[in-house]
Amino acid sequence: MPRLTPQRMVRGTAYILAALMLCHIVLMLNNSKFSSPIPSYLTSGGLGSNPVDSVPPDEETSIAGRRRMASIKAIPVELLQRFARPVPQHLPDQFVQSQLPDRPLLTQQLQQPLLLTRTPFNFTPVEDPLPLIYSLQNANATAILDAMLAINAEHEILNAQFYNGPITEVIVVQVHDRIGYLYLLIDSLRRVKDVEDCLLVFSHDVYSSAINALVRSIRFARVLQIFYPYIKQIYFDRFPGNDPRDCPRDAGLYRARQLGCNNAEWPDKYGHYRESKYTQTKHHWLYKMNRLFERSPVLANFTGQFVFLEEDHYVVEDLLHMLRLMVAARKDLSQNVEILTLGTYEKKPDFTRNTAQVVVDKWVSSFHNMGMSFSRAIWDQIKPCLPAFCSFDDYNWDWSLNHILTKCTKRPFQTMVIRISPRVFHIGQCGVHHKNKVCNPALLSSKLDRMLANNIAKLYPDQLMFNAKLKIRARALKPNGGWGDLRDRRLCSSFFNSSESPPSGLPYGM
Ligand SMILES: *[C@@H]1O[C@H](CO)[C@@H](O)[C@H](O)[C@H]1NC(C)=O
Ligand SMILES: *[C@@H]1O[C@H](CO)[C@@H](O)[C@H](O)[C@H]1NC(C)=O
Ligand SMILES: *[C@@H]1O[C@H](CO)[C@@H](O)[C@H](O)[C@H]1NC(C)=O
Repeated sequence: MPRLTPQRMVRGTAYILAALMLCHIVLMLNNSKFSSPIPSYLTSGGLGSNPVDSVPPDEETSIAGRRRMASIKAIPVELLQRFARPVPQHLPDQFVQSQLPDRPLLTQQLQQPLLLTRTPFNFTPVEDPLPLIYSLQNANATAILDAMLAINAEHEILNAQFYNGPITEVIVVQVHDRIGYLYLLIDSLRRVKDVEDCLLVFSHDVYSSAINALVRSIRFARVLQIFYPYIKQIYFDRFPGNDPRDCPRDAGLYRARQLGCNNAEWPDKYGHYRESKYTQTKHHWLYKMNRLFERSPVLANFTGQFVFLEEDHYVVEDLLHMLRLMVAARKDLSQNVEILTLGTYEKKPDFTRNTAQVVVDKWVSSFHNMGMSFSRAIWDQIKPCLPAFCSFDDYNWDWSLNHILTKCTKRPFQTMVIRISPRVFHIGQCGVHHKNKVCNPALLSSKLDRMLANNIAKLYPDQLMFNAKLKIRARALKPNGGWGDLRDRRLCSSFFNSSESPPSGLPYGM
């Protein structure tokens, strides 16, 4: 140990102060587009809380966006056809190999390093996005909308011809546009034990032929695709997209009234007007939930667990094993536990010790929004609170959920959460936005794989070990704003309340 001299202390303090100031400046810069009192993405990751990562880059300002615009002409008919028709049985695709019946599991081949079992993958999403289609100005938006609605109406379970046993769990992935992450997530799902008994649901808010091709090439489990239809690609010049007649974010009530812009009377609680790129994720989240629980004939009788993931998550192969242990253990607890949480934002995940440690605690969005799992019975408890979800002035789905689970439900929801060895990781901290950072998702995932491969014997524990509560200091929940617009609130409500008509001009009953 170096001796603590006064000089060292002074120097140390100076370093700490400098670091704090730097952090502060970075945060201020990051946050300047959306000045909320507490930037929730500091405490939580994922689509719900990190609008910066979850929206398409600004087409006007991003070079990649401009390149993309320039290269897009129209959507070839054959792409649409491929999308709408069942995939041919013999797709020459790397994913087809991955559905071989004797899918290798980590534990079955302890001798082999995991990396050897993976299909090669050279795609670098940060540098070179596949031709995602962000703007349909030059294409036939009607045709795209028709294709999406047709898929929604069909409720077709892909691969049902390969797997016909009962569905044991439903794994739901909310997908935006980061295909590189989605590939890695799918590749991790491929290795989950018993995934062939599950239904994988992919819920999209971007129409991308590349993403569709990826999802529809999965053969290792049953797959259902759903589309949130009010996507910005189609509604690019009107609500819920960016209507040019809407008020500028910072106009302020007085000038907004002078301008006579659309939503002058509906600023958020911080006086700002809506930004369409930040509102889509919450709409999508609720639309997806309502579709799964209320409008899906194929899931109407399913009473088991749903697991909720996002495109930039990464799962461990004993995910379902752990979930089943948690479901079983919950029965023996004296208290109610509504939500099971398979992921944590653990900074130092540890698989060298007992990987079966769980805690029971109050559900707090910023700690427990990753890899949530609950059943229809729990959704039925949430449902009566959805009006409050839609009127809460916060554009984050998870903070809005936190609001209703603490303020509206009979009692605050409790969760059982895996402690130091999460089975769901968030590898998307550095999304499209952080172009300067060295940030290679494939590298991150292979690091995780190595860590897991080194601790294979610790996976698949026989039983859970309950730990004492962590000392989570849940801060008082202040809404982040961004959800003051009456049109957003009405669109949100229209998903679950059929007597609430969505804002005029929008197709209805989807
Ligand atoms: C767009 O697609 C719709 C539906 O397929 C079709 O009826 C319409 O003629 C198309 N419009 C153009 C301009 O191609
Ligand atoms: C759900 O259950 C009802 C009543 O038992 C039955 O008629 C229906 O066919 C079932 N639906 C599915 C998709 O299994
Ligand atoms: C549904 O919408 C109608 C019309 O806005 C409203 O009066 C009613 O309270 C809503 N019901 C629920 C359950 O939110």
